[in-house]
Amino acid sequence: MTTPPVSALAHHPSTARPSAPDQATGCGGERARFVREFLRDPVRTASLVPSSAALTARMVAGLPEHGDPVVVELGPGTGVFTGAISGRLAGRGRQLAVEVNERLADGLRPRHPDVEVLTAGAAELPTLLAERGIGRVDAIVSGLPWTVYFDGPRPLAPILAEVLAPDGVLTQFSYPWTAWTPPARRQRAQLRAAFEEVLVTRTVWRNLPPALVYVARRPRPTTARQRLAGPS
Ligand SMILES: C[S@@+](CC[C@H](N)C(=O)[O-])C[C@H]1O[C@@H](n2cnc3c(N)ncnc32)[C@H](O)[C@@H]1O
Repeated sequence: MTTPPVSALAHHPSTARPSAPDQATGCGGERARFVREFLRDPVRTASLVPSSAALTARMVAGLPEHGDPVVVELGPGTGVFTGAISGRLAGRGRQLAVEVNERLADGLRPRHPDVEVLTAGAAELPTLLAERGIGRVDAIVSGLPWTVYFDGPRPLAPILAEVLAPDGVLTQFSYPWTAWTPPARRQRAQLRAAFEEVLVTRTVWRNLPPALVYVARRPRPTTARQRLAGPS
């Protein structure tokens, strides 16, 4: 399956520094829903506003343009990436969205009838896929907060690497000003242990707050991951 090179992502036009983030022009109902869910559960929701169109474009830029890919979105929230993924697939393949917040998942279903919206935690992905007869997935688009990478019995990155096809791609957004904090460094280390290549895009200034995207490719086989992670 052919995907655009990451260099194309790094030089995407949305890297230009704009005057204002474009979330401000987003749908008011969805923004209000997001704020409500943030107030209910700030740690899991992790953001006061949905991602911008510029960040969305960066997150979905690596999706396969041909064939019938299986694309999984993690933490879709109010569905900004969901709609963009559907647009890229245009009826091809299969699209799943895994959202732990029941109210947010319920809000997505009527607006995205072609998407399999699953109310579940991201760490359950292998089971969710097996239940649906899906072996490997071609792309994972993750809007998950970094806390999810550490809050289960197993780190999340190797779980994602396990279900991703060898030529698949994972995108995960993060924030540049937190890049050197211990949790962000641990998240990057986790991703680098699970994937042969983890590239970081330029900052997307047209997002509130400005964000960057980790683009992970070539999931390492389990034995290589264990060797890199050291003795348990
Ligand atoms: C920062 S928001 C991102 C929402 C949306 N993708 C966006 O960019 O606007 C994080 C989302 O991840 C969801 N989430 C948090 N923990 C999760 C988990 N363990 N599994 C699946 N979704 C989770 C939250 O409910 C929330 O919808």
